[in-house]
Amino acid sequence: MTSASTNLTDIANRIQTGEVTRIVALTGAGISTAAGVPDFRTPTSGLYDQLAPLKLPYPEAIFHINYFSHTPEPFYAIARARHPRNLRPTISHAFLALLARKNLLSFLFTQNIDSLELDAGVPAEKVLQTHGSWKAQRCHKCKVPYPDDLMQRAIRVGEVPYCLEAGCGGAVKPDVVFFGESLPERYEVEERRLTRKKVDLMLVMGTSLKVAPCSRLPGLIEEGVPRILINREKVGDFGTRKGDICLLGTCDEKVRRLADELGWGDELEGIWAEAVGRKEETNRRGGWDSEEEPGLEESIQKLAEKMTEAGRISQGHRRMLEQHLGEKFAHVLPRKSFG
Ligand code: APR
Repeated sequence: MTSASTNLTDIANRIQTGEVTRIVALTGAGISTAAGVPDFRTPTSGLYDQLAPLKLPYPEAIFHINYFSHTPEPFYAIARARHPRNLRPTISHAFLALLARKNLLSFLFTQNIDSLELDAGVPAEKVLQTHGSWKAQRCHKCKVPYPDDLMQRAIRVGEVPYCLEAGCGGAVKPDVVFFGESLPERYEVEERRLTRKKVDLMLVMGTSLKVAPCSRLPGLIEEGVPRILINREKVGDFGTRKGDICLLGTCDEKVRRLADELGWGDELEGIWAEAVGRKEETNRRGGWDSEEEPGLEESIQKLAEKMTEAGRISQGHRRMLEQHLGEKFAHVLPRKSFG
């Protein structure tokens, strides 16, 4: 029996006896890969490696506001392949909904923009989508909201939607937080609350912990409070504290293991089946045509040919770097940053 599994049995007992009742969770792209969305940094299969043909200044540029404001085409080339419309919650999303149903989920910080936690049934007041979501969109320049049906059409054809306001002409951006932008103001409120309220357990799933400020959250948990990492590999400072439990492997496999330890196996499968059924019903009503989805690779390849011919990428790079160099320093709210 490894120490992790001994600790896991111990954690399961403490949940069953009511000693652990306030669980804070942090999730990343790794809990949605089983839904068919590549994560960002896994070598080869991750989005950033797949973007190589676009020869971006650096992979994250595709989600940097300075780059997007000059060269929004790459973002829209991949938007359709990453849009959550046809995704279904995974068993890991369902586990978070089960924790909430059992009044054990104190709060969930998710870095994902696919809203699959909400689709799985986690109550909205228990989740903060720290990097925003696809739920709405607006002009990135004048911030005027943009119609949903026109946005759906633009994503479907892979074209950049532009602002409808006379004289503006800015590219429209979904309400996701790009690098260089501020997180929702609620982030500071919830991060402060995390340091003030009693937390009995922190659960971190499917993230490389490479992007601030979310990467700092596990470090804010008081020494002595157990932290469980479910991830393909060890990340952040996990393993440095006595109470850390690292379950290395796929989220879905480890979540099922945890559910079995808790005697919740059947209940978890049931809540997952319900959530998938609900999402499929929504998809059917969602109005997205069912035509063959272009793959991510095909969309990137097509754009690479188009953009290189037009020489648009080099202009975009140059303007973005000029803007970067001149970028002001003062930041009011925590900015999303990587590295
Ligand atoms: N099971 C367990 N772990 C997985 C699985 C899986 N099925 N799939 C991927 N992982 C792990 C990877 O090994 C990696 O450690 O999940 C982590 C995903 O890391 P990233 O790809 O960096 O994604 P994430 O941590 O969510 O990125 C944070 O970076 O680009 C920005 O805005 C973007 O929100 C994102 C942020």
